[in-house]
Amino acid sequence: MQTESESSRPFRDKKDPHEQEQREEDIRLSLIGYAIRAPSHRNSQPWKVALRGTGRIVLSIDHSRVARALDPSGRQAFLSCGTFLENLDIAARASGYRADIDLFPAGWPDPGKPLHDPVASIDLERDERVQPDPLFHAIPIRQTNRRPYSGKAVPLSVAGELAAAGDGELVPFGFTNDRNLIREIRDLVTEALARELSDRERFREYCEYFRFTDAEAARHRDGYGLAQSGQGKIIRFFTGAFLFSRESVLRNPEAFSRRAVSDLGKILEKCGGIGWLSTKGDFYIDQVRAGRAFERIHLKACSLSLALQPVASPLAGYREMEEVRARLSELLAIPGTHTIQLLFRTGYAKRVPQTPRRDISDFIVS
Ligand SMILES: Cc1cc2nc3c(=O)[nH]c(=O)nc-3n(C[C@H](O)[C@H](O)[C@H](O)COP(=O)(O)O)c2cc1C
Repeated sequence: MQTESESSRPFRDKKDPHEQEQREEDIRLSLIGYAIRAPSHRNSQPWKVALRGTGRIVLSIDHSRVARALDPSGRQAFLSCGTFLENLDIAARASGYRADIDLFPAGWPDPGKPLHDPVASIDLERDERVQPDPLFHAIPIRQTNRRPYSGKAVPLSVAGELAAAGDGELVPFGFTNDRNLIREIRDLVTEALARELSDRERFREYCEYFRFTDAEAARHRDGYGLAQSGQGKIIRFFTGAFLFSRESVLRNPEAFSRRAVSDLGKILEKCGGIGWLSTKGDFYIDQVRAGRAFERIHLKACSLSLALQPVASPLAGYREMEEVRARLSELLAIPGTHTIQLLFRTGYAKRVPQTPRRDISDFIVS
């Protein structure tokens, strides 16, 4: 079993020691090590990077890791590119480099069509004037926490600190710690998850990155499992072996779905607050920007010892979710011109084990 400190080590690359030695000189590998610690939808890590020249990194989406039924518009993948770029940028500053990030270098992408061209080209320049970002220190400790939180409300002053870490101009931040509103949001979110899991293909994709046992988690080095919900080793073993094994869940999805929806309802009710990010447009560039702002807020939350978990279901882009999405926008008083990009619960809770990442070399393409 991998330990927390092992999984949060950013530079893990064990494929070829000789190759690793040569690459150690290359700052880009170090920065990619930080970037892949970013959160991604279902921990699918949908990134591939090409190294060009001596100082350029080109980021593209690894479409084999995009959940087509759960994320038909690719929103989650673009948000996940934003989180990756934010970590890369913060880590570059910490090393005395300026990261010049050129989004969509091959031209403005067609909305709604899968993007096979690069999402970003990043040129690294040594620059003495760059200011390190204090959020750098939160990269190794940031985590998604799916435990029940304590029920203590997150004060609005703390929410203000989260907002200040984001990008208020282009990605407005909203927050509530009002119990009645939280309950109303909970009802919509649980309805959304039930709808999400009622479709066979979406359910199959949901399970694809769910790690039913610790052995699965160690083998794949992506996805997440019960450990990230705070379940101890013994409960994890019995749940994976007897109650909900991958085989039994795929044979009988209803029982697992009912449990997932009921658990989500309980943990949302007791959270310390719910936050959301929206953008004026809903183009890929807005989604990347929202991902960047979200990562800054998540890093800030972890640096303030706040637990945080995004909830993507009500924002999904397939037809059956349109009406829930619209009701959520109305409930949160989001203007018709804006799109909610991310919704998350936050609060106070003990930490959980970190999720694993694949090796750095798994992300590099020629
Ligand atoms: C765009 C996006 C959507 C996400 N949606 C959810 C979600 O619906 N439910 C959830 O539990 N976690 C969600 N997450 C969190 C990821 O599952 C998490 O980042 C991933 O498992 C890696 O774990 P870590 O954040 O602890 O490093 C989302 C993350 C991102 C970036």
